[in-house]
Amino acid sequence: MATSSTSIESEFSNPNLEVLLSEQEIQSRIKTLGAEITRDYAGRNPLLIGVLKGACFFLSDLLRAIDIPLSIEFMAISSYGSSTRTSGEVRIMKDLDVPIEGRHIIVVEDIVDTGLTLSYLLANLKSRGAASVKLVALLDKYERRQREVQIDYLGFQIPDHFVVGYGLDFAERYRNLPFIAVLKNPEA
Ligand code: IMP
Ligand code: MG
Repeated sequence: MATSSTSIESEFSNPNLEVLLSEQEIQSRIKTLGAEITRDYAGRNPLLIGVLKGACFFLSDLLRAIDIPLSIEFMAISSYGSSTRTSGEVRIMKDLDVPIEGRHIIVVEDIVDTGLTLSYLLANLKSRGAASVKLVALLDKYERRQREVQIDYLGFQIPDHFVVGYGLDFAERYRNLPFIAVLKNPEA
């Protein structure tokens, strides 16, 4: 095979990124969260619901750290335009494929920021008759909270910076980073 002379621009060592949480820190925290969920949900066959797209990466690592029978589902949600966003109204773009009445639900999210999306989603799921609804979030940007959201299992609290990587994007870019980084200049 001929070798290309094109130089590869590494995304993982992009100078516009400042690592906040390393791959090792993330994976080690996920092992601990998985062990806690394993212990708390023994015998309850929980249904993990991942919120597309950002939480897929976290969900796929987390569920392999939970050593009990479980199943997974995905939902896609989008907030209305910025003017109505403060109302906390979100639209369900992809709903669950199964009824959740009587099920023990664990919502899996990448980050809780203002809390508007999660407060809507958790209330919506509770109204469907789930036996219980808990939240696991990898990141908590608590300084920005507008709606109270109870995070039952948390990865890390982070300060108010825009972060990317490990599923989190800026205009759909950077989801593939194995670590979480602060985007120093979003315009760059
Ligand atoms: P909330 O309704 O403001 O809590 O919105 C949470 C959603 O906003 C998350 O699921 C992310 O998709 C997005 N988000 C919030 N903060 C960040 C960030 O720092 N980087 C990337 N996405 C973010
Ligand atoms: Mg997002």
